Amino acid sequence: MNYSFDNKVVLITGASSGIGKALADDALKRGAKVAVCARNVTKLKAAFPNICEDRLFPYEADVSKEEDCQSFVQATLAHWQRIDVVLNNAGMSMRALFQDVDLNVLKNLMDINFWGTVYITKAALPSVMANKGVIVGVSSIAGYRGLPGRTGYSASKFAMQGFLESLRTELLHTGTHVMWVAPGFTGSNIRNTALAADGKAQKETPLKEDKLMSAAQCAQIILDGIVKRKRTIVMTTQGKVTVMMNKLFGKLMDNMVFNHFLKEPDSPLKK
Ligand SMILES: NC(=O)c1ccc[n+]([C@@H]2O[C@H](COP(=O)([O-])OP(=O)(O)OC[C@H]3O[C@@H](n4cnc5c(N)ncnc54)[C@H](OP(=O)(O)O)[C@@H]3O)[C@@H](O)[C@H]2O)c1
Repeated sequence: MNYSFDNKVVLITGASSGIGKALADDALKRGAKVAVCARNVTKLKAAFPNICEDRLFPYEADVSKEEDCQSFVQATLAHWQRIDVVLNNAGMSMRALFQDVDLNVLKNLMDINFWGTVYITKAALPSVMANKGVIVGVSSIAGYRGLPGRTGYSASKFAMQGFLESLRTELLHTGTHVMWVAPGFTGSNIRNTALAADGKAQKETPLKEDKLMSAAQCAQIILDGIVKRKRTIVMTTQGKVTVMMNKLFGKLMDNMVFNHFLKEPDSPLKK
């Protein structure tokens, strides 16, 4: 089925940087009206300097708080009377061994990555269903394969995928579509804000961000996937190989994934 974004209302969480900002830019280009949120509305507005108010609705909301999610959705409905597409994109990561990590890091990531998706989806679902729209979760390869040093991140993305797969099956005959997408490594701010063992941002990235898939390319793949009503999308060659190999050769992948992350600069696995 083909799907046009023209004059559709697209709600995107976590749009002040990275993939969320690129999703908003691309959806605007495709003719959508876009409601965006992040925790800092000044930074959020600054990310879209030249977009007029009748196309963009910026809103300050922390998706880990149910009341913020409800008020973001209600404010969008008051503004545009409908929601067609929900992109649950807001997310944070971590980098610390489980044996060292403060458990609040894991709780925090579940609150943002998993519960944020649940709260937004619950609040927006009646309108999305009325419009036979699309609910999307921005998951990760870490939602298919547990990654060392990312216990809380992987757990939150596995949980997101389980939630969305159940919801997709519940909504199978309603005309409302549910999909998740799993970007591979994509250039963004996520590794700078990733939480260390003590819950503080690590403020550095072990990767060369400009050598990774760009956020713009990732956003294009996601929006094209909505048009085609894909069930799931796994991105990058490395991501596709990881997901396939993990299904077929789980034990071998334990070693390969360990060795891959051991080679990262300052890997916590080197202890
Ligand atoms: N980049 C990758 O390699 C990669 C790979 C796979 C999956 N992903 C997924 O892609 C999504 C986007 O990540 P990104 O790479 O684009 O990261 P990013 O550049 O750090 O962007 C994250 C966005 O989420 C917002 N955010 C964070 N916590 C929030 C909260 N509690 N409530 C509302 N907004 C919040 C941030 O703004 P504020 O801090 O101002 O709130 C920011 O706008 C995430 O779900 C991530 O797991 C990324």
